[in-house]
Amino acid sequence: MRLAKSLLIASAISGLVATSSLAGDDLVKQGEKIFMTKSLGNCLACHAANGKNVDGPGSMGPNLQALQYWPDEALYQKIYNPYTTNPISAMPAFGKNGWLSDSQIKAVVAYLKTIK
Ligand code: HEC
Repeated sequence: MRLAKSLLIASAISGLVATSSLAGDDLVKQGEKIFMTKSLGNCLACHAANGKNVDGPGSMGPNLQALQYWPDEALYQKIYNPYTTNPISAMPAFGKNGWLSDSQIKAVVAYLKTIK
């Protein structure tokens, strides 16, 4: 039983490693592009991140930082539909509105995790 359990854990870990090496830098770059591009996420319009902004400091939303401490799922939900955790959020529901696809949101999540 114990052996079966540790095998299970080992395969779960190698699965994780495999996914992250596949995902890697490309995913982060794609997410950064979505974050910065007006016709895509346009997140910079409201959020400053890593000291960068396009249209002057994002003033509507919080300065994004230390997001590596958020679970992926929570970040995904925030982008998919912020109203689930904050019914009066001024942030649009990018996923629910159909502005960003599932894979685009996942890329943005990967990028958000790299913001210092
Ligand atoms: C119209 C302005 C606006 C846009 C555009 C916008 N946001 Fe937001 N965002 C907000 C506001 C306001 C909050 C704070 C309220 C809340 O948490 O719902 C917020 C909160 C967040 C949070 C939680 C931050 C924290 O520390 O609590 C994250 C993460 C986030 N936004 C990511 C994004 C991403 C990624 C995009 C682009 C896909 C984006 N936002 C686009 C306004 C915006």
